Amino acid sequence: MKKLKIDLPEKQYDILIEKGLRRQFGSEIKKLYTNKKIFIITDQNVYNIYGEEFEKDLKSNGFEPYFTVVEPGEKSKSIAVLESVYDSLLDKEITRSDMIVALGGGVVGDLTGFVAATLLRGIRFMQIPTSLLAQIDSSVGGKVAVNLEKGKNLVGNFYHPDAVLIDPEMLLTLEKRYFYDGMAEVIKYGCIKSEELFRMLESYVTEEEFFDNIDDIIYRCCDIKRAVVEEDEKDTGNRMLLNFGHTLGHAVEKCFGYEKYTHGEGVAIGMYNITLRSEAKGETEAGVAESIKSLLVKYKLPYEMPEMDEEEVKKAIGLDKKSSSGSITLILVKRIGESYLKKIAKEEIVDYI
Ligand SMILES: NC(=O)c1ccc[n+]([C@@H]2O[C@H](COP(=O)([O-])OP(=O)(O)OC[C@H]3O[C@@H](n4cnc5c(N)ncnc54)[C@H](O)[C@@H]3O)[C@@H](O)[C@H]2O)c1
Repeated sequence: MKKLKIDLPEKQYDILIEKGLRRQFGSEIKKLYTNKKIFIITDQNVYNIYGEEFEKDLKSNGFEPYFTVVEPGEKSKSIAVLESVYDSLLDKEITRSDMIVALGGGVVGDLTGFVAATLLRGIRFMQIPTSLLAQIDSSVGGKVAVNLEKGKNLVGNFYHPDAVLIDPEMLLTLEKRYFYDGMAEVIKYGCIKSEELFRMLESYVTEEEFFDNIDDIIYRCCDIKRAVVEEDEKDTGNRMLLNFGHTLGHAVEKCFGYEKYTHGEGVAIGMYNITLRSEAKGETEAGVAESIKSLLVKYKLPYEMPEMDEEEVKKAIGLDKKSSSGSITLILVKRIGESYLKKIAKEEIVDYI
């Protein structure tokens, strides 16, 4: 089993990664939590595949499990669903000494984390991430949130779990489009912090070979996120490096109404295009954009900037606002595995899009 320790001033917890770990989730939870009642929040897709097995496992470890199942998808990160989850847990008489478990992708993880952070002023929780994005990104680092009509993740907190339990085999049931979506973030980690990871991803010839190494890949991604979060938990400095490709990516997602491009696809386009610009300006070593492009193509991700109205793009980046004076922090890659923050005046962003 691979194990990482997250060590923050006010919270320490382990990330456990092992193929087949789902068969031991109950016994791993029991090592940290000994009360009977346990509250699992999941979505309908994940529940259909793993609900029964997990329930049996929890019961055989002496737990009394209560499931709350939400609809799959981003719409469940809403205030309305949040309230229905609070109600469901209160109906089941949850108390502050109980434990909540997030079983699902990033949506379930963010929603559950926010429930745990706020209900009864805070209840312990654990993350069992089941999508690639959740296993390498959203379950680590303590950001929890729900969306408002006005935008994504506008109500949230930093609230860490007691443990993150990862079974990479659960990715075998994930739809391919979500798998590739998560791959954009895996590639991002290689670009910003690990040439070794980047080269590993380049080297796999078959999907089988990739999956043979998936636990190592997940471990490396979580380890990079661990280090970044330990250095800058509250996201005021170097944690921003994790947003490589995201500014342009968000603009692409937004300009197409969040329908044509997934988040990962937006990030993929963002990473390549910003690097193309920074390379032309001599801020990135020659050839880096091409390497990123080849890896994106290999993992079935787009790289080409779609036709977009320049004004729309500026608007999506927040440049149209009166407050558009001031600065913006860009995340650039110097060479594969090495990245840095560059503060520029907001108007200069046009040079990078
Ligand atoms: N907290 C953070 O730091 C952070 C970081 C990045 C993204 N996020 C958030 O993560 C969310 C996106 O997460 P996501 O991409 O995991 O989306 P998601 O949770 O919607 O999961 C994607 C789809 O896969 C299904 N699924 C999940 N695991 C499965 C499995 N093992 N087998 C079969 N189906 C499975 C889900 O039901 C869903 O339909 C966004 O809301 C984003 O804001 C948070």
